[in-house]
Amino acid sequence: MTSDQNIIYFVTGNLHKFNEVLDLFNKEKINFLLKQINIETIEIQADSIREVASFKLNSIKGQIKGTYFIEDAGFFVDNPLNGFPGVYSSYVMKTIRNKGIQRLIDDFTKTQAHFTSVIALYFQPLNKNFFFEGNVYGKVSKTIRGSGGFGFDPIFLPNIKPNKTFAELTTTEKNRISHRGQAWKKFLTFLKEIKY
Ligand code: IMP
Repeated sequence: MTSDQNIIYFVTGNLHKFNEVLDLFNKEKINFLLKQINIETIEIQADSIREVASFKLNSIKGQIKGTYFIEDAGFFVDNPLNGFPGVYSSYVMKTIRNKGIQRLIDDFTKTQAHFTSVIALYFQPLNKNFFFEGNVYGKVSKTIRGSGGFGFDPIFLPNIKPNKTFAELTTTEKNRISHRGQAWKKFLTFLKEIKY
């Protein structure tokens, strides 16, 4: 069991995610230290990212002494795939990858997609869970472009910067507009304002 005060543990095995969050964290003056910890979590199949995140957070209860959070995300092709892969994003990334998604949408000129991120926090001083959600909307790129980021980044064109995929942005640029960046801003506001 791990125990430390003023440390917030980000439970993740994904270094890309950790580095994005670290970039955001370092820009703020917060009374906490961010640390990565890799613990096996349980991922259920549910209808929403929020439910998956909630279950994942509860699945590690008792294994870390202190405050910790997990983050769960999904890529939703709203048009023409009615939200697929959504909660199946990890599996789809492992199996058919970006090329497979592109094949599914090949016949369509217009696409709509979004990412959702949910940060699920166990805040030890209040012995309570909190959730922060962010979304970013855009399109699916016809070509796989860019070497930054991870996962579906090379095929996502955000509406706000429609000429570049997420993988063509720097971490700071992606964070400024991304689903995770938005969830993170809500999380930070909470940390700054919470009285305990
Ligand atoms: P999870 O939150 O790690 O379960 O993510 C589900 C899937 O979505 C994984 O295959 C990730 O690679 C992908 N994913 C999560 N966040 C992002 C992102 O910010 N950009 C691109 N793909 C992502």
